[in-house]
Amino acid sequence: MCLSLASSLLAVGVALIHMVSPEPGSCANVTITQTYNLVRLMQANTTILLNTYLSHQGSPFSEPGFFNTGRLHYDGVPTIAIHFLEWRSMTDMERLGQNYRVYSIFFEFLQLIWDDQLEINPYETELLEMLKATQLHIKGLLSNLTGIMCSLGSPPTPLTDPLMMKVTEADTFEKKFRGSVVCYRYRQWVDRTVRDFSLLQNKYRS
Ligand SMILES: *[C@@H]1O[C@H](CO)[C@@H](O)[C@H](O)[C@H]1NC(C)=O
Ligand SMILES: *[C@@H]1O[C@H](CO)[C@@H](O)[C@H](O)[C@H]1NC(C)=O
Ligand SMILES: *[C@@H]1O[C@H](CO)[C@@H](O)[C@H](O)[C@H]1NC(C)=O
Repeated sequence: MCLSLASSLLAVGVALIHMVSPEPGSCANVTITQTYNLVRLMQANTTILLNTYLSHQGSPFSEPGFFNTGRLHYDGVPTIAIHFLEWRSMTDMERLGQNYRVYSIFFEFLQLIWDDQLEINPYETELLEMLKATQLHIKGLLSNLTGIMCSLGSPPTPLTDPLMMKVTEADTFEKKFRGSVVCYRYRQWVDRTVRDFSLLQNKYRS
């Protein structure tokens, strides 16, 4: 896998590698397949996370069909709105880079939501543990993405302050709402990332 990744990379352009070649030895050996498997594992829990989260926020969040009313937007939470052809024609680096940016933002939001829930639902340990486990998996995914991008010769640029302090201020209702949107959008994004990696996997299959 790594070899086929490397040889496909030559097609991408040797010049690029020389320009931005990372420090020797700083590239972790992560394969597309390993990362695909990790994302599939994450995907298995996204619905449980969303439903568990909603069930502990009271009305109207816990009511069936809460998300059928179009209340889906919270500033800064990544959405997946993209046309099929636009998605399909992204370069590998664009695809990986976008995933890296999105999960960097989700990582911070998961911390914020955990803090909010510790305050609102301090005794719901199952929910708190799920949020923490999700955040850890995102961290693992970011690390895997870094490894892949690095071995493709273009390590990701870390995001600077995706979430400013000001944005985190909210009353209880808003905190519950933003957590709902985060869990909902996170689920959509993991589905999208599964598609991204299944595409990459087919491409780099030896
Ligand atoms: C990377 O992983 C592959 C597959 O596990 C292995 O064959 C290869 O030797 C590893 N390369 C390095 C540099 O560790
Ligand atoms: C899925 O949820 C179970 C139970 O909460 C947990 O033990 C497991 O680590 C989670 N896996 C992932 C990939 O999130
Ligand atoms: C890839 O992600 C898995 C799961 O989180 C983690 O155990 C592993 O260390 C990661 N590998 C790298 C090189 O980041």
